[in-house]
Amino acid sequence: MRSKLLQLLTSTDSFISGQEISNILGISRTAVWKHIEELRKNGYELEALPRKGYRLLRTPNLASADEIKAQLTTKRIGQNIVYKKAVASTQETAHEQARNGAPEGTIVVADEQLAGKGRLGRNWYSPPGSGLWSSLILRPDIPPHKAPQLTLLTAVAVVEGIREVTGLGSQIKWPNDILLHGKKTAGILTEMQSDPDRIQAVIIGVGMNVNQEAFPEELAETATSLRIEAGGTVYSRAELIAAMLKRFEHWYDHYLMNGFPEIRERWEALTVTIGKEITATTLTKTIKGYAEGITEDGVLILKKSDGTLEHIYSADITL
Ligand code: BTN
Repeated sequence: MRSKLLQLLTSTDSFISGQEISNILGISRTAVWKHIEELRKNGYELEALPRKGYRLLRTPNLASADEIKAQLTTKRIGQNIVYKKAVASTQETAHEQARNGAPEGTIVVADEQLAGKGRLGRNWYSPPGSGLWSSLILRPDIPPHKAPQLTLLTAVAVVEGIREVTGLGSQIKWPNDILLHGKKTAGILTEMQSDPDRIQAVIIGVGMNVNQEAFPEELAETATSLRIEAGGTVYSRAELIAAMLKRFEHWYDHYLMNGFPEIRERWEALTVTIGKEITATTLTKTIKGYAEGITEDGVLILKKSDGTLEHIYSADITL
């Protein structure tokens, strides 16, 4: 109900009377007043004038369930939202939700992560108030070895969502880094709950640096935010996640119907990795070579100087 009220209030710059709201939403005037008070408690600034009604002056820019729902136009992806102010990691919360039977499309979002997880056991810097920390639960009927395709699909959706809301053209570095002007603005972490031949759930974590003005020294060289790259513009995190989920649903539906080929093409058009001399650092070795492309399963194909090909499943890439 509150997301409908928010939708109504954000749809206009002028006043809407309590009566009008009560008619449109089919609730009593007292209920309207209670919802308005609740919004105020959550940091929304509203002007209320006798005989004129209510007008929204400022939103707190939260990616709360109400805010996301007010923006969301998907059919099922993101329709079930679990929002927390702070968690250890949205991945952990989503794993727990998935084990408890949460349906496909459930998304866990937090304002802050106290132990955000990056790839390869790294930490993910997740301060409150500025980033988008989310984990999406999927239950695709695909063999477990195909799950990495979903990371690439997500990367495409993230790039398209960012472009839609900000106009910024980001690029993908294999497998999961989203770059703006060569610096990382988002990362994707895909995890699985699986039997040997059957996926129970795939948890896709997306961390997006949205409104940070600066980064700690150790990240400053490599990390950036949408705000920094846009020259100071502050973006709505709810709008960004809604746009990303919309693009995700589009490609995910396409994937379940038609498979990976078109997504692979789209991914290749958005990547900076393919067609370059690169260095891949895996957990056990460092390999240099020419990035030829990706396989049908999203594995990176590297051509070494002796002409042999090497398949890279997981690594850090430097260009
Ligand atoms: C990477 O590039 O190393 C992947 C970063 C993934 C970070 C996101 S933030 C939301 C979700 N929860 C986590 O703990 N990690 C992912």
